[in-house]
Amino acid sequence: MAGLLSPSVMCADLLHLYDEIEKLDSLGVEYLHIDFMDNKFVPNITFDTNMVKCFKKPMKNIKRDIHIMAFKPEQFFDAMEIGEGDMVSVHYEACNDAHTVLEDIKNRGALPCIAISPDTPVDTVKAFLDEVYAVLLMTVYPGFAGQPMVEGSMDRLSELRRIIDESGKDVKIEVDGHVSWDHCGEMRERGADIFVAGSSSVYGKDYPLDEAVERFYSLVE
Ligand code: DX5
Ligand code: ZN
Repeated sequence: MAGLLSPSVMCADLLHLYDEIEKLDSLGVEYLHIDFMDNKFVPNITFDTNMVKCFKKPMKNIKRDIHIMAFKPEQFFDAMEIGEGDMVSVHYEACNDAHTVLEDIKNRGALPCIAISPDTPVDTVKAFLDEVYAVLLMTVYPGFAGQPMVEGSMDRLSELRRIIDESGKDVKIEVDGHVSWDHCGEMRERGADIFVAGSSSVYGKDYPLDEAVERFYSLVE
């Protein structure tokens, strides 16, 4: 499987989101990465649940990749209209019982994913490999775009790939945080499958969006 792209919409032109999503859709991008923050689990707020729901309006083929950085994430699923086609990541660190939350996502027809922050040991995910579509490996501390990668993230990525491969489960790895032009190729080599592209690549100022998307795919094929 070639690398899949999930541009981070919090890094997009927030005053032209409808056009931005239509453009990504027309470029054949697989996912739109939607960061939802509660200002408790992380000290920031991005989009409310109504916006997360409305992001579906312009979508034809592109799918929602919803990254919920919030305590008790299940409280927001109805308002976001979580359902078929959605990929939904909840933080291990933010759930009382992540197994129940992941089952809830699955029962809604969506793809359940477990996210781990940089200070959470990678082998934590072993308990979830039977019930997730992907592991979202944070390579920055969640909450803000534009941060540098946390030291040691590349080795954590290789360790995560090894753990998943040894389990024999078909679980994908999504990387999120400073997935830059310089880092994305190495991340692919170390086993990443889905790339959250934000301010340090697709939404950087180096290339127009269509050229940036094409360049990204060439680096992670
Ligand atoms: C941060 C978010 C990321 C962020 C990525 O908490 O989860 O998705 O938007 O932005 P960059 O690529 O600038 O780190
Ligand atoms: Zn994210």
